[in-house]
Amino acid sequence: MTTSSPQGAQTLTGLSETIVLVGAGKMGGAILEGWLGLGLDPKNIIVVEPQPGPEITALAARGLRINPNAGTVGETSAVLIAVKPQVAGDVLPTLKPYVGASTVTVSIMAGRTLGSLEQALPARAALVRAMPNTPAAIGRGITVAIPNTHVLPDQRKLVDTLLSATGAVEWITDEALMDAVTAVSGSGPAYVFLLAEALARAGAAAGLPVDLASKLARITVAGSGELLHRSSEDAALLRQNVTSPGGTTAAALEVLIAKDGLAPLMEKAVAAGTRRSRELAG
Ligand SMILES: NC(=O)c1ccc[n+]([C@@H]2O[C@H](COP(=O)([O-])OP(=O)(O)OC[C@H]3O[C@@H](n4cnc5c(N)ncnc54)[C@H](OP(=O)(O)O)[C@@H]3O)[C@@H](O)[C@H]2O)c1
Repeated sequence: MTTSSPQGAQTLTGLSETIVLVGAGKMGGAILEGWLGLGLDPKNIIVVEPQPGPEITALAARGLRINPNAGTVGETSAVLIAVKPQVAGDVLPTLKPYVGASTVTVSIMAGRTLGSLEQALPARAALVRAMPNTPAAIGRGITVAIPNTHVLPDQRKLVDTLLSATGAVEWITDEALMDAVTAVSGSGPAYVFLLAEALARAGAAAGLPVDLASKLARITVAGSGELLHRSSEDAALLRQNVTSPGGTTAAALEVLIAKDGLAPLMEKAVAAGTRRSRELAG
């Protein structure tokens, strides 16, 4: 079962308390930008990051705290972990001073299960496992989240707001779905980029200059994505709307929709990604 993210939860008390971001790389940096866009006061944000970039360092002038002594900070309302899963073993024990009875910890680390995270955090810690995707960098991502049994309704609202800073949020109740989520929305942007590459190559093979083929493919994929984003219609209807019977699009789609066309190939790709996510989980 999934539930959609509620909007407009800006008045949550947790937002005016201290929130910690651990790891400000590509994804953590995008999340931080989203939080500032939401209106979070930099004074309430702590960034733990060995090599903070100049943009983050500049935020110190607005009160953002970078790598403070954890012992002087105390418990916080939320801790969001955005480091690579490989360093989780080193990082998690250092977060204990920030995590108290009223703290909710959020992990976006791919493959790190609620069970394995719970073992590294204080007993009964409220915890959310989440899987964002790269369009988060432009506020157009989608994050799928699952809470453990200790997350209270207000903490879930707080996390929903923090995650919705980079796009849509969906909540699930069955953690086993995370592997398929990873293979669909986590890895999905790469499939779309591959579509642009393949379309460009096909255009060149059909006789177009390489640069023109690449530009046509790039702008077509980006524009179609935007059209889908702005439309209330589903993808199938939008496709049908641009397909005249017996026309050019219909001729091409006949190949893509064939029994050995795109749908079974995509199914195989997502199954492979799901399997791999399951193998890597821990
Ligand atoms: N990018 C995605 O599309 C995506 C999608 C879903 C989930 N995720 C998850 O998001 C997490 C971050 O991915 P990313 O692509 O943003 O990686 P990234 O750009 O490498 O960011 C990780 C950041 O954590 C920092 N870091 C390393 N050790 C640390 C420590 N001990 N304490 C605090 N910070 C530390 C790294 O600093 P250094 O560079 O100095 O090591 C880096 O700035 C991963 O767990 C990944 O599975 C990413």
